[in-house]
Amino acid sequence: MLRHAAPRGLALALALALRAPARAFAAALADPVESQLAAIYAGLPDVHDLPADEILAVEASGGHEAYGELTPAGVREVLARLGASAGDVLADLGSGCGRMVLQCALESPWLRAVGVELSPTRHRVAVEARRQCERMAGAHTARRITLLEGDMLSPQLAGALDDATIVYVASLLFDDSFMQRLGRMLAERPRVRAIATLSRFPSGALPGFREDESNFPPDEQVLDRRVEVTWGAARVYLYHKVDESLKSQSKQSE
Ligand SMILES: C[S@@+](CC[C@H](N)C(=O)[O-])C[C@H]1O[C@@H](n2cnc3c(N)ncnc32)[C@H](O)[C@@H]1O
Repeated sequence: MLRHAAPRGLALALALALRAPARAFAAALADPVESQLAAIYAGLPDVHDLPADEILAVEASGGHEAYGELTPAGVREVLARLGASAGDVLADLGSGCGRMVLQCALESPWLRAVGVELSPTRHRVAVEARRQCERMAGAHTARRITLLEGDMLSPQLAGALDDATIVYVASLLFDDSFMQRLGRMLAERPRVRAIATLSRFPSGALPGFREDESNFPPDEQVLDRRVEVTWGAARVYLYHKVDESLKSQSKQSE
């Protein structure tokens, strides 16, 4: 299957780049939440390599098994761009070993976070990390983390995402047909109001949402707006739910 913007060589180069030491930002360990995350994940297995059957399952889903993460600064920036605020429920679709959802629970007590991961190996590490999180930060923190194993597009998981209000998907190497199906699934979730992705949805794939202005300029004009990821920096695309009541008000006044 043809992967958008990712010929095989590029996908391989990226996959290799993603294997760079996961925490290359030692200076940041002065930050208390980063120190907590470092303690939680110390001793847990590395999740870059997957057994062959898991690679095949992820590829068959239309997703991609290459692994990389938002850094803690990247997580904060994505939450800010999503306009995260009290009462929000974040869904990280393709949550890997759960760092983003754990960071949210540790530093944003007003937020609940749901992670969905297809790889059982990565999901198991996330579950163990939540256990450590509970031990270190308490049950009240761990309680705000939900970890689900499965395909983010599976109808069985869709209901579990009905509470989500803001969504992040590290969709960099996901194919177009996957993005089409993801758009349909997210458009049907009743409470989702903002979505951040690492690749742009194909035109028309996300009914009921509008693209943020920041999606339009070519890459070279928005280099300084990229967010920090473990493989460097990545462009984030943003989508906002169209407020139907405002639309009908403006129609009435026409
Ligand atoms: C690049 S990692 C992102 C990790 C984390 N969300 C972050 O950004 O820090 C993408 C993850 O998506 C997972 N994935 C790929 N296809 C998936 C699918 N169909 N359903 C659920 N997870 C999937 C991969 O196994 C991988 O762990």
